[in-house]
Amino acid sequence: MPFYTPKSLLAIAVADLLAGATAGLIGCSTTDEVLSCHNTTEVTDMCCFNYPGGALLQVQFWDTDPATGPTDSWTIHGLWPDYCDGDYGEDCDTSREVSDVQTILEDQGRTDLLEYMEEYWLSDDESDNEFWAHEWNTHGTCINTIDPDCYTDYTDNEEVGDFFQEVVDLFKTLDTYTALSDAGITPSNDATYTLAEFQSALGDIHGGYEVTLLCDDDTVYELYYYFNVYGSAVNGTYEPTSPLEDSSCPTSGIKYPPKDSSSKKTKRAGRSQRGRKNQKA
Ligand SMILES: *[C@@H]1O[C@H](CO)[C@@H](O)[C@H](O)[C@H]1NC(C)=O
Ligand SMILES: *[C@@H]1O[C@H](CO)[C@@H](O)[C@H](O)[C@H]1NC(C)=O
Repeated sequence: MPFYTPKSLLAIAVADLLAGATAGLIGCSTTDEVLSCHNTTEVTDMCCFNYPGGALLQVQFWDTDPATGPTDSWTIHGLWPDYCDGDYGEDCDTSREVSDVQTILEDQGRTDLLEYMEEYWLSDDESDNEFWAHEWNTHGTCINTIDPDCYTDYTDNEEVGDFFQEVVDLFKTLDTYTALSDAGITPSNDATYTLAEFQSALGDIHGGYEVTLLCDDDTVYELYYYFNVYGSAVNGTYEPTSPLEDSSCPTSGIKYPPKDSSSKKTKRAGRSQRGRKNQKA
């Protein structure tokens, strides 16, 4: 029978704690958490407080030319941090850039996540894997709470996998297609809708808050749901909030065309998929 001194027992307990219950993401105290963009004093725990990117946008596409994804669902563009004022950073940590998200997720055993992304997180020009890497490199690395420093027993790219999981989890709570169709807003080649109708329908799944709705001319193709967060962006509490960018759609006459499967193979002409800067102009 092994002989344990009190000291070695303590070492075992600490080792168990590190390897077991608290391995992975550092926990955030639920009582001390401050809602991002709402602190009135300095907050120092940068694993439990999103700053400077305290507003997080869950961005979705309605891609019709070429059509991507299921005909009865919007698709994922990403999760973007914003400095609580419409300004934002990009490419915040080149040392953590990745090029092959698929292999990272496979190596982490996240095959269900990958399958979901292959159905709902699709590029309309480059490969999906390149698109995913772009989303992490450009936007994900700017979310300060999704950082190796926020883990115990950190394993390579752990935070990258957690980023993709969180984006998908959040997307699943924001079923734009169903919210719109419940309000009688269905894809059509003939009908048009007002911005107020869109906002009312989407407010129903977003705490009554508006969204940023983007149009090419009169045709809707993308939207931003804004959140502030209690705790880490990985598993904190996302609170809906008001948009920090204006919608670019007209107030009426908005077209919401069906995804036409016959256009699936064609390339979109003109508009860049990643045209966030253009949208701000
Ligand atoms: C986030 O994960 C950490 C570590 O597993 C846990 O301690 C904490 O309670 C979680 N927070 C929420 C809000 O789920
Ligand atoms: C909110 O917290 C950040 C990060 O600690 C700090 O830089 C900023 O000054 C704080 N805001 C206010 C109003 O105190």
